[in-house]
Amino acid sequence: MVAVSNVRKTFTTRRKTVVAVDNVSFTVEPGMIYGLLGPNGAGKTTMLRCIATLLTPDSGTISVDGLNASSNAREIRDRVGFLTGDMKLSGNLTPRELLRFFGELNHMELDTIRQRVQHLSGYLGMDEFLDRPMAKLSSGMKQKTAIAVSLIHDPQIIIFDEPTAGLDLLAAKTVADFLHDFRERGRTVLLSTHIMSEAEKLCDTIGILLDGALVAEGSRAQLMERYDKPSLEEVFFSLALERGGEKNDTR
Ligand SMILES: Nc1ncnc2c1ncn2[C@@H]1O[C@H](COP(=O)(O)OP(=O)(O)OP(=O)(O)O)[C@@H](O)[C@H]1O
Ligand SMILES: [Mg+2]
Repeated sequence: MVAVSNVRKTFTTRRKTVVAVDNVSFTVEPGMIYGLLGPNGAGKTTMLRCIATLLTPDSGTISVDGLNASSNAREIRDRVGFLTGDMKLSGNLTPRELLRFFGELNHMELDTIRQRVQHLSGYLGMDEFLDRPMAKLSSGMKQKTAIAVSLIHDPQIIIFDEPTAGLDLLAAKTVADFLHDFRERGRTVLLSTHIMSEAEKLCDTIGILLDGALVAEGSRAQLMERYDKPSLEEVFFSLALERGGEKNDTR
């Protein structure tokens, strides 16, 4: 389970302070797919990086499987599979070599790594490029490799930042299918997306993030009913408009 409570994260540059995550709270239970839906710059990646213990919030608490992110970062990292676009995979290493490297980082036995690579490669359709250098792979192939890397240690908790970025429809469906499979097996899945249809198709609960704030949360049906709109898209636009209005009022 992931529990986020009143988390705030700011970034200060020379010119100004940006509130990237603004007092956000939500919970993701095992056997559930939770999606953070928000436009570019909404704070999705920042929120997920805080949960994966790669960033420390200014205030608030995060617990992952009952472990506190501020004091048990190492244990949390063992349990979490984190996928982010920040990981630039390139160079001469092949996906197989890269997976072995990350497996060893996770203290896995070579035999276990081999089995796991075979399983993930079959699952994600990586067999044909498993031994080609990363630099020569297409962006979809790199994304599949990044997904496999994040899953090498068979994590209980999956945190995927924009998992289908760069994937074609078939590959995106493969990812959707295995996220559903994770859910069936009682794993905890948290993802971010700016694609409305992806949130609708994949997620049990959708949290709408605007300017760092979680402005609404619920299933697609609940959100449509609560805001009396015929689609998630319309819910999203009305919330964004409302938020824009509020911001202008305070100027
Ligand atoms: N390391 C950083 N230093 C300064 N500002 C940052 C940093 N990381 C994020 N920000 C700022 O925090 C805000 C939220 O960024 P974040 O990357 O979390 O958004 P996002 O929802 O993931 O956007 P996208 O859909 O474009 O990936 C933005 O205003 C961004 O400029
Ligand atoms: Mg992002």
